[in-house]
Amino acid sequence: MIEEIQNKIQQVLSFSTNNIDELEKFRIDFIGKKGFVSHYFSEFKKVEPSKKKEYGLAINELKNVTLKKIEELKETLGTDVDKKVKDFDLTKPASMIELGSRHPISIIRDKIIDIFYKIGFNVSEGPEIEDDWHNFTALNLPMHHPARDMQDTFFIKKDPDLLLRTHTSSVQIRHMEENEPPIRTISPGRVYRNEDISARSHCFFHQIEGLYIDENVSFADLKQTLLYFTKELFGKSKIRLRPSYFPFTEPSAEVDIYWGLESETDYRITKGTGWLEIMGCGMIDPNVLDNCKIDSSKYSGFAFGMGIERIAMLLYQIEDIRILYDNDVRFINQFKDSI
Ligand code: DAH
Repeated sequence: MIEEIQNKIQQVLSFSTNNIDELEKFRIDFIGKKGFVSHYFSEFKKVEPSKKKEYGLAINELKNVTLKKIEELKETLGTDVDKKVKDFDLTKPASMIELGSRHPISIIRDKIIDIFYKIGFNVSEGPEIEDDWHNFTALNLPMHHPARDMQDTFFIKKDPDLLLRTHTSSVQIRHMEENEPPIRTISPGRVYRNEDISARSHCFFHQIEGLYIDENVSFADLKQTLLYFTKELFGKSKIRLRPSYFPFTEPSAEVDIYWGLESETDYRITKGTGWLEIMGCGMIDPNVLDNCKIDSSKYSGFAFGMGIERIAMLLYQIEDIRILYDNDVRFINQFKDSI
């Protein structure tokens, strides 16, 4: 028996590994609950009295060399890990994180917001599900007014009337109801129209509405504001205002910018005229101010509204509106640099 223990001691002394699992197995085999050491201890009572001392010393030695071996091997394994950490080059460039890109509609919307923010406009928003009052009636479009047909509407329900707003002009009304002049606000948002989907039009799109109300606001202020805007956004400073009709403004106008006729594309998008229509505008009809409890004998104001898709399509030369809503990353990734 003692000889067997001596053999085990030799086995321990010559044991080596660089694998942590193997070391754990070695520990269990030798000093685990059912390992050799406890086995030899349990045999102790069977040993002849004259050999007990020698036997006891041998088991103790086996136990001690095993513990020492485990300590040693643990240390070398540990330093191996340390070495790996030291070999790790912290100055190496990290692998690139793939950045997403913003949608062209968001890019243009934010550009427009920034331009008006610089001249004191804040941003206001309203609900996409609107009532008849805010979308039509308060805007001087009473029930059965023929101009309601200008905007094919998705009606949700009658009594109380609910519909998907057809323009962001509804936010004008909400803003005027809740605020006192002077008012300078722009309202970006999604609008809906019951129209056939084609390369040029969609049943939902985005608009930005502008509203300015104070004492003595004149048509000249409107024109100057639009001139500033077109210079900032398009870098073009020639605009013209064509008389038009909107129920909520009087007088009303459509704004064209002179795009030029330098390239074939210019000819195509301006239909050979060099001029491009970009928005509707006008002086707010006094009825609209009165509907929102703003004293029309004291205050006047102007408003304008434009489609964001139309502007994005012009600036980025996008031919088909539908591609804006396809969520195709190959398309959207092209706008990474224009953020
Ligand atoms: N709401 C009009 C539309 O959707 C656009 C518009 C025209 C808004 C003139 C205005 C405005 O505020 O003054 O076609």
